[in-house]
Amino acid sequence: CSFSFSAFFLFCLYLDMGNLLKVLTCTDLEQEPNFFLDFENAQPTDAEREVWEEVDVVLKDAAAILDELQAYKGAGREIREAIQNPSDEGLQDEAWAAVVPLVGRLKKFYEFSQRLEAALHRLLRALTSESYNDPMQHLEREQALAKQFAEILHFTLRFDELKMTNPAIQNDFSYYRRTLNRMRINNVPAEGENEVNNELANRISLFYADATPMLKTLSDGTTKFVSENKNLPIENTTDVLSTMASVCKVMLENPDYRCRFSSEETVSFCLRVMVGVIILYDYVHPVGAFSKSSKIDMKGCIKVLKDQPPNTVDGLLNALRYTTKHLNDESTNKTIKAMLQP
Ligand SMILES: *[C@@H]1O[C@H](CO)[C@@H](O)[C@H](O)[C@H]1NC(C)=O
Ligand SMILES: *[C@@H]1O[C@H](CO)[C@@H](O)[C@H](O)[C@H]1NC(C)=O
Repeated sequence: CSFSFSAFFLFCLYLDMGNLLKVLTCTDLEQEPNFFLDFENAQPTDAEREVWEEVDVVLKDAAAILDELQAYKGAGREIREAIQNPSDEGLQDEAWAAVVPLVGRLKKFYEFSQRLEAALHRLLRALTSESYNDPMQHLEREQALAKQFAEILHFTLRFDELKMTNPAIQNDFSYYRRTLNRMRINNVPAEGENEVNNELANRISLFYADATPMLKTLSDGTTKFVSENKNLPIENTTDVLSTMASVCKVMLENPDYRCRFSSEETVSFCLRVMVGVIILYDYVHPVGAFSKSSKIDMKGCIKVLKDQPPNTVDGLLNALRYTTKHLNDESTNKTIKAMLQP
């Protein structure tokens, strides 16, 4: 019974994703609406298990990466003193000793971004396969994979928020590179150089130069996925994203669903995932999320954000304002632009 309800609900949602009224009518048919996307409890089915386990190995390390990034203090003081006293060998050594282990950590974060991209690739392949008819059916039948996809986006936005508010990262890394170059010129054997060779240093440097490096990695990864799969129309990938955004929006704006979240944390998880898929869609889809033909109801999504308690979603609104690609396009509806005015 709950399955048929859920199928009916999906059907309504599929008929008209942007129309809240219709969705409400659907849920009214059932006393106890069940979740469509169970972010809290979804467990892998046998069909999902292989992919799920591969991705799970990566996601298991995500929390530790965030903790480490949050605790990242940088070597600002040591670097400053070394630069101010260029002839003091002791201070140069001290700065170098402080920076080398930090660079090891930055390298680890960068390597994690590569693993995350591979995991995303794996999920996209599963969620766009021909096992099911459309993205809605995929997300419903592969809830555990959808949940992992959401976890990847959640991690990504969190990582970029932390990186953005930590200028020490780029400072440390550029000091490391400059010092390494100087050592090379002077033929000083550089300890720790083997850790990050020149080519890798270039890639890592490029990674951290981006304002939102993790999101950039994922959007480049998704674009690559699209271009590698020539037989798969781009819409089949972007529809996964827009469907996910719609599902999050409906779950957030409908009190029947929302009260089923066992914690406020799931609400903020859901909000972050919604914003994450919007930004990804905006990068990957040729005309972006804000255009008239976009499959994402941007006005509805922004309204959901604005209906949250004051100051709880400033970071997410800023992410839409400053890290999307098409918001400032000529063709973006003025109403949407106005809604996102700071
Ligand atoms: C792309 O999506 C359409 C509609 O959902 C589906 O009919 C088609 O089989 C998909 N194409 C591939 C290659 O999966
Ligand atoms: C912009 O959005 C508003 C509100 O939904 C709508 O009334 C208006 O027709 C849209 N403008 C254009 C140019 O599409």
